[in-house]
Amino acid sequence: MALINSSILRKIVMALSGLFLISFLALHLTINLFTLISADLFNEASHFMATNWIIQLMQYVLAIGFVLHIAMGIQLTLQNKKARPSAYAMNKAAANSGWSSRNMIVTGLLVLFFLIVHLKNYFWVLKFGDMPYSSDYELVVKLFENPLYTLLYVFAFVLLGFHLDHGFQSAFQSVGINHSKYTPAIKWLGRAFAVVVTLGFSLISLFFYFSSLSN
Ligand code: HEM
Repeated sequence: MALINSSILRKIVMALSGLFLISFLALHLTINLFTLISADLFNEASHFMATNWIIQLMQYVLAIGFVLHIAMGIQLTLQNKKARPSAYAMNKAAANSGWSSRNMIVTGLLVLFFLIVHLKNYFWVLKFGDMPYSSDYELVVKLFENPLYTLLYVFAFVLLGFHLDHGFQSAFQSVGINHSKYTPAIKWLGRAFAVVVTLGFSLISLFFYFSSLSN
């Protein structure tokens, strides 16, 4: 029990669930980018993801990954607040760390808000709702016709980018990979991944929004 309560174990669980979520994001972005190549290709990939039993099983692992990551993140933040509540400590933290690392809970909770909206509009509609369109592709096209919706998405992708920029390298540190030779490369890779995720997802939303204006 003492082990479960230890902050080291929480950090490791956060790191491993975070790395798992990162691999999901890479796959999700790749499949979503198919929308820019061909509607049929995207629909086929989407159909495969929705019917393959291994992927279906992985959806439960994904849900557990999200829950663990969010729960540990909130717990660690509350625990850190209790440990150093003074303004002096906060100012010192500001001097010693970047914006992303100081605002992980803020960017994380805002991305969670996005995720709830996103799951309601895609996952829920496709799995349990009354699908109003003939294909997954059409659902994507129609949702981004709404400018407010597109704006919310792009804003969320920027926040997700900041979250990943710190989270990626932090995950490696938490599992003990901290080396003068490898850490700078890991930080660089994390930043590159964050930029690709933000730009890649934003490109999809903006492409469909601007395409809808010319129709
Ligand atoms: C342009 C951006 C995005 C588009 C067009 C998009 C599209 C979709 C679609 C069509 C589905 C339903 C898949 C299915 O059940 O067959 C889905 C599910 C999902 N999306 Fe996204 N997504 C985007 C960005 C994101 C981001 C940034 C995240 C995470 C922060 C995310 C997390 C999820 C999750 C967790 C699911 C449910 C799991 C799944 O069905 O695989 N999505 N998305």
